[in-house]
Amino acid sequence: MDTDVAASADLIRLEEQYGAHNYHPLDVVIDRARGVWVWDVEGRKYLDFLAAYSAVNQGHCHPRIVAALKEQADRVTLTSRAFRNDQLGPLCAQLCELTGYARFLPMNSGAEAVETAIKAARKWAHTVKGVPEDRGEILVFAGNFHGRTTTIVGFSSEEQYRKGFGPFTPGFRLLPYGDAEAVERAITPETVAVLVEPIQGEGGIVSPPAGFLRRLRELATANRFLLAVDEIQSGLGRTGKLFCFEHEGIRPDIVVIGKALGGGCVPISGILADDEVMGVFAPGDHGSTFGGNPLACAVARTAIKVLIDEGMVENSARLGAYFIERLRSLKAKKIKEVRGKGLWIGVELTPEAGGARRFCEELQREGLLCKETHVNIIRFAPPLVITRAEIDWAMERIVKVLG
Ligand SMILES: Cc1ncc(COP(=O)(O)O)c(C=O)c1O
Repeated sequence: MDTDVAASADLIRLEEQYGAHNYHPLDVVIDRARGVWVWDVEGRKYLDFLAAYSAVNQGHCHPRIVAALKEQADRVTLTSRAFRNDQLGPLCAQLCELTGYARFLPMNSGAEAVETAIKAARKWAHTVKGVPEDRGEILVFAGNFHGRTTTIVGFSSEEQYRKGFGPFTPGFRLLPYGDAEAVERAITPETVAVLVEPIQGEGGIVSPPAGFLRRLRELATANRFLLAVDEIQSGLGRTGKLFCFEHEGIRPDIVVIGKALGGGCVPISGILADDEVMGVFAPGDHGSTFGGNPLACAVARTAIKVLIDEGMVENSARLGAYFIERLRSLKAKKIKEVRGKGLWIGVELTPEAGGARRFCEELQREGLLCKETHVNIIRFAPPLVITRAEIDWAMERIVKVLG
């Protein structure tokens, strides 16, 4: 089949026939995108209200990011870490200057960066804190989503993510999200770290009670364990601050980033930490063939610059507040709650509404692409370059479908 001229239906058939069925996508086949807009192969135009789970915060095919990608692709794309390249050092320096951390360790996917945080915390606990080898425990939270490796799904509370994939890695303890007292009770001399999302995105845009992260910070400092914050989805402007933990005025020991670091173009992730933690890695302890590759680093350098220079973090705060207010004023019977921060908004439907998927499909027909999370929650997370007029355009469709 000539896929250049194939219709959506043919392409969907190919994917269904030859691809693994590990996703349940909306049946829209995108072949072009720009900013907040995408087009399907038949030329229909949609507003992207998911932004690839926040990996496209800077908007699709941002011209400066694409230019950096092309320029670097023509020079050198991969060296492995066996040699050095001229992009990794400048990216590390840029991220450290921006965030105040001493070092950056690059990986590719978010899950790999979370694994890196886990390894760093465990080795720190053994070599610095003095926890006996193979004994450390990491505290994690019900409703978490940190990726799909076997170690990570092993501490998920979601039955489907785990079922059939065991046996799992030991050394994790699951606690209720937002319950600082449960954390306090769970601390032992062998506590290595607490690993937490500042808002649970896949969990349904769930915020913990105010002060929760601050309390975790206090407990971590007082009991000498690490606070590792997963900002893979919440970070890089999504909630109206560069990092979501800034809303609580705290500084984690490890910050895990990914998604929008690659400007919607390439996978790049990693962890930020100071010397005491990052110093546990010696050559050979950890790595990745593509981690820190010059193509991804060049893209990330520009992706970060664009995010800051073009005021996307502020836009997220300003238009997020506007959008939430408009959604709350809807007062539709189907809507149980509207919640979120910045341009990261969950609309929870009542159980009687009959599930969020149906509404996502209706919104698709109206030209708005979004995705349900769990059964009853629609997540709105457009690229951070969205304008007020585009939100108004979207609201007209949302009112029609939900109002
Ligand atoms: C908070 C969080 N952590 C980790 C991940 C995993 O990232 P990746 O899919 O790039 O492995 C995700 C992905 O949605 C996420 O939202």
